[in-house]
Amino acid sequence: MAISFTLNGKPATIDADPDMPLLWAIREVVGLHGTKFGCGAAQCGACTVHIDGQATRSCITPVSSVADQHVTTIEGLTSKPAWVDLQVPQCGYCQSGQIMSATALLEQNPKPTDADINDAMSGNICRCATYVRIRAAIYAAAHSLEG
Ligand code: FES
Ligand code: FES
Repeated sequence: MAISFTLNGKPATIDADPDMPLLWAIREVVGLHGTKFGCGAAQCGACTVHIDGQATRSCITPVSSVADQHVTTIEGLTSKPAWVDLQVPQCGYCQSGQIMSATALLEQNPKPTDADINDAMSGNICRCATYVRIRAAIYAAAHSLEG
């Protein structure tokens, strides 16, 4: 089945089983490998992408459901200076999902509180426990948005 959507700002049409998880379509059909597989069950956040600006677990999202929508992956973000400046990643495996959730949060709420961050990020697991640096990077990014 041909499925058309916008991927990282550009039109994309792929031929895939409509029930294929969006994660596999992104990784195996399109060939963008920044979005990671962790649990496959919406429990870890490693596969987080944006669909029309909403942080979404791509491992449980059928690719057919994104027809005519805007999908953004980690490759579609222009810069992540706070993550680099604060050296957030350890092994790095979870970090694209962390950044996608944090970016969606800041786009909807440029001045998040600790509670807002807890709500937005609690579904993103980090086996390396970089949570303190993730929170610091979100605050740094929010500060930089203030100009
Ligand atoms: S791989 Fe999708 S939430 Fe874990
Ligand atoms: S940096 Fe290793 S799992 Fe998060």
